[in-house]
Amino acid sequence: MAERVAIILAAGISKRMNTLLPKVLHEVCGRPMLAYVLDACRKVGVVNIYVVVGFGNEQIKERFGQLKDTVWVLQEQQKGTAHAVLCCKEYLKDFEGQTLVLCGDGPLIRADTLKTLVEKHESDQPAATLATAVLNDPAGYGRIIRDAKGNIRGIVEDSDCTSKQLAIKEVNPSYYIFNNKVLFDAVQNVKPDNVKKEFYLTDVVSGIIAAGHKVLAVTAVRPDEARGVNSRVQLAAANKIMQRRIQQELMDNGVTIVDPDNTWIDIRAKIGQDTVIEPFTYIHGEVKIGQGCRIGPFAYLRHGTVLQNDVVLGVFTEVKNSTLADGVRARHHSYIGDAIVGRNVNVGAGSITANFDGKRVNRTNIGNDCYIGSGAVLIAPLDLKDGSQISAGTVVSQESIDKLGRKEQKD
Ligand code: UD1
Ligand code: MG
Repeated sequence: MAERVAIILAAGISKRMNTLLPKVLHEVCGRPMLAYVLDACRKVGVVNIYVVVGFGNEQIKERFGQLKDTVWVLQEQQKGTAHAVLCCKEYLKDFEGQTLVLCGDGPLIRADTLKTLVEKHESDQPAATLATAVLNDPAGYGRIIRDAKGNIRGIVEDSDCTSKQLAIKEVNPSYYIFNNKVLFDAVQNVKPDNVKKEFYLTDVVSGIIAAGHKVLAVTAVRPDEARGVNSRVQLAAANKIMQRRIQQELMDNGVTIVDPDNTWIDIRAKIGQDTVIEPFTYIHGEVKIGQGCRIGPFAYLRHGTVLQNDVVLGVFTEVKNSTLADGVRARHHSYIGDAIVGRNVNVGAGSITANFDGKRVNRTNIGNDCYIGSGAVLIAPLDLKDGSQISAGTVVSQESIDKLGRKEQKD
């Protein structure tokens, strides 16, 4: 088996997104788009990933940090996708293996599809293989041009298509694998002969064919993963598709989602068997929910929330960076932030942890079997012993608890 690397193109300015943030850092269900593409590459055994960055490259590098398998390659001027690949030449000119080329703005990519692509390339041994998709609405994508025998002849960008070519429904989702030497020979010959005057990677395909090599195109990409993200509208559409996938997997794992269309769950969330998620629940960030919990309706769970088993969180309950042990109940209008809540604690309606004193975020510890009456304000930092009873409407500070303790000792 040949050694394999990947190039991910992520340097574009992305005029259509109208953004100051590099496009590939925009998030889909809680993760930057680029993270999905990196992960998919890793699942098909690449040894190194070359990510071409340009616009906002510092931000991208800061977000991802130093990754062991990743080289950040700078494309100073964004002259097109072929030029972006050419920027990797100094790293890859002598590499004898296979090179996958993918776009950083394709977060819907599935590793299984990449596997199909790679296997086809391994078994048929062409110079290049690309995976294509058939879309009912192909507008905006490069069209796959085939000859009468069905062999691929090239790719024509949407803006360069004739009206006849515009009707072609088979498109290029930008999933390619090349024999590396062939790729770098062809990419340096690409000319900016197109409406946008850019160096197009798509022209490499016809270049390789013209040089007498074989190129294969397999229709292996499902419509729901072919969609690239070039605009905010497409970003929202990608979020919807990914959300459906996340929920599908959770449901397959035994989680009930009462109303999938009105529930939003971050890809990083983990949810245990027989937990029920009621409508209008929003789960954002790394959140872990155990088994048999009941969440929502209208619950908001934020980064760092850990719910053990049989926890019940009801309407307008927000939890952040807190661990709630088995059997905790907070059924109505509560905020629990930066807290550790012990087993079987009942948090009454409208009770909150006042965790921010204007300068610092402080922690609250609530022992096992405590009862927090309705409308209690727990001023952090605060430590409540096991079995503490807090009356409804009380404002509790550590000072007041300590005083009470001293008074009880005197009595
Ligand atoms: C590209 C393909 C098109 C395909 C579509 C799939 C080309 C010419 N077109 O079009 O056939 O249907 O993807 O989504 O390849 N980039 C760079 N440097 C550059 C220009 C772009 O790194 O100089 C990066 C972008 O950041 C982006 C990717 O390459 O991640 C693709 O560029 P984009 O402008 O989004 O191309 P599309 O018009 O989507
Ligand atoms: Mg794109």
